[in-house]
Amino acid sequence: MYKKLTKTLFTGHNLVYLTSCHSTNEYAAQLLSDKSTPDGTVVITNNQTSGKGQRGNIWESLPNRNLTFSIIYKPTFLLPRNNFWLNPTLSLAITDFLTEYMDHGVRIKWPNDIYVNDLKIAGILIENSIYGNVITHSIIGIGLNVNQREFERFPATSLSQETQLDFDLSEVLSRLLSRVEARYLQLRSDGWIDLKGQYLELLYRFNQPHYFKSGEIFEGTIIGVDDTGRLEIRKTDDVTETFDFKEVEYL
Ligand code: BTN
Repeated sequence: MYKKLTKTLFTGHNLVYLTSCHSTNEYAAQLLSDKSTPDGTVVITNNQTSGKGQRGNIWESLPNRNLTFSIIYKPTFLLPRNNFWLNPTLSLAITDFLTEYMDHGVRIKWPNDIYVNDLKIAGILIENSIYGNVITHSIIGIGLNVNQREFERFPATSLSQETQLDFDLSEVLSRLLSRVEARYLQLRSDGWIDLKGQYLELLYRFNQPHYFKSGEIFEGTIIGVDDTGRLEIRKTDDVTETFDFKEVEYL
């Protein structure tokens, strides 16, 4: 079903294809009980039946239409306190890929939802295993809407809806994984400073006044993201607050 990957150095060279599975993140976690599972292993299915989303949500995807897969990386170069940096790394990889097909409207909604205009096109769920002072494994689950054109549950879009074309899933996977690997290697060699600048440039509603909810509703402007991934929102000229993922909602 999926062709052998030739455009990457190691990502996806061990490709585990499942005709159906509950969650590729869960399956990848099981593979990790075997210590010899190679770095860059990819688990992919065309029919994920209980996909996990962020905040305990489910990720729904029609069979055979979209990409639902997980990458196992071993980012032992990253300190646990810097685990957030994987989010901009993966978000930028997906936006790099999408901008091959569309020239505007691609945005990253903090921390790692990928939008085209106001519609979600991809989601990322990163689950890290930490031992001592090292991130031993990271399971990076990606759901990318590719050929699905109708969405019932929330405002969403797909590659196909945006371009009016149909895509070969194997080709899309191959291109996307080479973007992922390039950004991952950038993180490994240069850290996150350059990534951070590019991430902020693409951040949804960056530097625009908007309404948020954190207990109460307030108006504020996103002015940055700190090194641990907390969102920095300026409420008034002299009050800026930082928020963790679960502490604030966009309205
Ligand atoms: C989100 O809520 O935006 C994150 C969605 C992540 C979905 C992907 S699909 C492949 C992988 N396996 C899962 O169970 N979830 C992730």
